[in-house]
Amino acid sequence: MTKNIALKKINQIISLSNKNNLITNFILKKNLIWFFNNHDENDLKLLYSKASQIRDKYCGKKIVVRALIEISNYCSCECLYCGLNCKNSSLERYRLNKEEILSSIENISKNKIETLVMQAGEDFYVRKMMPQLLREIKEKYPNMAITLSLGEDSFNNYKLWKEKGADRYLLRIEASNPTLYKKLHNKKNVFTRKKCLSNLQKLGYQTGSGMMIGLPYQTSKNLAEDIIYFNKHNFDMIGIGPFIPHPETKFFDKSQGSVEMTLKAIALSRLILKDSWIPATTALGSLDKDYRIDAIKAGANVIMPNFSPEIYKKQYEIYPNKICIKEENKNAQNILEEISCACQLPLSFERNDRIKNY
Ligand code: 5AD
Repeated sequence: MTKNIALKKINQIISLSNKNNLITNFILKKNLIWFFNNHDENDLKLLYSKASQIRDKYCGKKIVVRALIEISNYCSCECLYCGLNCKNSSLERYRLNKEEILSSIENISKNKIETLVMQAGEDFYVRKMMPQLLREIKEKYPNMAITLSLGEDSFNNYKLWKEKGADRYLLRIEASNPTLYKKLHNKKNVFTRKKCLSNLQKLGYQTGSGMMIGLPYQTSKNLAEDIIYFNKHNFDMIGIGPFIPHPETKFFDKSQGSVEMTLKAIALSRLILKDSWIPATTALGSLDKDYRIDAIKAGANVIMPNFSPEIYKKQYEIYPNKICIKEENKNAQNILEEISCACQLPLSFERNDRIKNY
């Protein structure tokens, strides 16, 4: 009986997602909340398998590989959940110099990976080095898609980086509700963040957003509204991972986000956004077991091996016990093969740009 209800709701979500008006979004929201509050094993199995079918149909039957380098763990922000927040004085800070970055990229290129993601905290030093660095990377690796994830910045800086060769940008909204956002971030507001995302899209970046699941004060309604926000802006990439409490943050004693809720958010985002790139995030791999495989089985289609120099991996401690600390760079291909095998999907090392036809 509930299986029929679940199927009806899944089909409704799939068909209403391209309408984007007040009435359809109201129905969408109700259906999303229904799934977030539902723990029936059969209903969820059905949800994950439908989401995988949609992924296969719109993105192809493959797992896309994108390599990550964490170039600096300095950050001027005070996000209450993040281990890199500037109030955390127990964290040893580092910045990669140009040579270290270029040698990591050389390694990525040797692994035949055509997408590079450079991530850092909000760090003035990184911003200063970016134009020259981008020019050099583009010159040496003209086919490499360059993704930046450097936080909030001005329209002019985003424009400059685009001109120098950046193709994509990741900036999670984290929580699209203004009141919730305020509770999670000191001295920041969600309107600036939304403006940054809209500037990135205006400038022609393939733009990624996303959120954490299970943040303190977050409700199912918030999650449903976040997904509707992603749909409204048709983001090219959606990163979703569970909140993991970090001992050196204000949220040290809060509970960890649930895996099931995270998988549901991935699957529901897939039903709605269809051809977006959705990673099986590192946070999902860093819990009691590696749930990245479950994420792919629930509709995700990107895996992001970490190619930061081994000595710095531990210091990019957004949250504790990141799986990449255990995964040595030289074993990247084996680890990817294992995931591919477990999911029965081939790996794709190509750029995989998102082509928007609408
Ligand atoms: N647990 C899980 N994810 C986190 N992030 C930041 N802090 C945490 C945490 N404690 C996520 C944010 C950010 C991304 C780089 O890492 O969503 O955008």
